[in-house]
Amino acid sequence: MIPPPHLAPDDPESAQGDLTAGFRPRILVVDDRETNRVAMRHLLRGTAAEVSTAGSGEEALGLCLQREFALALIDVNMPGMDGFELAEYLRGAERTREIPLIFVTAALAEEIHRLRGYELGAVDFILKPVDDRILLSKVGVFLELFNAREALRRHRDELAERVRQRTASLEAAQQKLRRLDRHQNAIREEERRRIAHALHDEMGSTLANLKMTIQWLQRNRFDHERQNWELELLLGQVDETIVKVRHLTQMLRPPILDQCGLPAALEWQAAEFERVSGVAARVTTESTEVTLEEEGRIALFRILQESLTNIGRHARATEVAIALDTLGDRVRLTVADNGRGIPEELLTDFDRTMGLRGMEERACQNGGELHIESSTAGTRITAVIPSRATRP
Ligand SMILES: Nc1ncnc2c1ncn2[C@@H]1O[C@H](COP(=O)(O)OP(=O)(O)OP(=O)(O)O)[C@@H](O)[C@H]1O
Ligand SMILES: [Mg+2]
Repeated sequence: MIPPPHLAPDDPESAQGDLTAGFRPRILVVDDRETNRVAMRHLLRGTAAEVSTAGSGEEALGLCLQREFALALIDVNMPGMDGFELAEYLRGAERTREIPLIFVTAALAEEIHRLRGYELGAVDFILKPVDDRILLSKVGVFLELFNAREALRRHRDELAERVRQRTASLEAAQQKLRRLDRHQNAIREEERRRIAHALHDEMGSTLANLKMTIQWLQRNRFDHERQNWELELLLGQVDETIVKVRHLTQMLRPPILDQCGLPAALEWQAAEFERVSGVAARVTTESTEVTLEEEGRIALFRILQESLTNIGRHARATEVAIALDTLGDRVRLTVADNGRGIPEELLTDFDRTMGLRGMEERACQNGGELHIESSTAGTRITAVIPSRATRP
């Protein structure tokens, strides 16, 4: 058991004592005689170490609790707590157990002391009167050992820190992946829901209608002229259904994208948008087709579709400008409207909005990025995708 430390040592350095082990090792000199302490300080000034001194065992314990020492030079014969007692306390505490001790003793070759000392785990003895060279060489060895241990410890701490940082960034990446995965599923579900609704509303009722008309024709025997007329009506309905199927197909994956390329598909989509919404849509395209891979083309096309849907639903715009151009080895799609803008709280909390988020993900999945600028004067969505899609 370590007794409570007796602070206020005579050592001027103690005022700045702290628990950090600096890069400069410290040596503790414990001696009850001030002249010895001064002499030892003088002798050790040539070493790379800082020297702290204590005039008693109690004071030495106090210092050891405040600082880390590379080595303690302990006078054996001191009034009160002697050097061996001090060593016992030091060996008994976790914090001080490892400090190498050198006993400085005037009692010439005193075997008992020697034995006691080694039993305590003391590392070395040095006899008084002190031979400067012997003392300095022993101190040098211990300081080297301490420095080597410190370097190892720092290295180990650095490694542990790097492992910690890597683990943290891996965990963050995993979390992001999980979030993306959940979001992807939500987007897929949403797409399925839209398709199911479209099929139900558009196709289901038209086909049911056709069936009823055919059954009605079966039940009633009309004259030739009336029958032809009814069949003409039926054909008209079938034609309408074909148009609707074509429209649904276009919505799912417009053949024009595969057959004629992205610029043509953008033109077609813009014209469709203008026809349905009445909002003027202007398209400017460079011939970028060759540089984009299929997935990149689809991504940009879907981003345009989602942007136009949003403009139709939310923007209250009168004009839309769509541009497709290249920036070095990247292809850029810009969709700008002159509508009322996206509410700021949605722009700052992007996670809440499925459509905008989905566009960003499409761009990211193809190694690109999406930027949204919006004010009350309008919204500009810019998607940039590398020609050779580098999947993250
Ligand atoms: N061009 C735009 N002009 C004005 N507001 C817009 C525009 N685009 C999006 N917004 C606003 O941002 C919100 C989020 O858009 P987002 O596409 O993410 O969702 P949504 O269109 O409401 O629903 P959905 O998931 O069906 O797309 C919209 O509700 C709308 O308020
Ligand atoms: Mg939307």
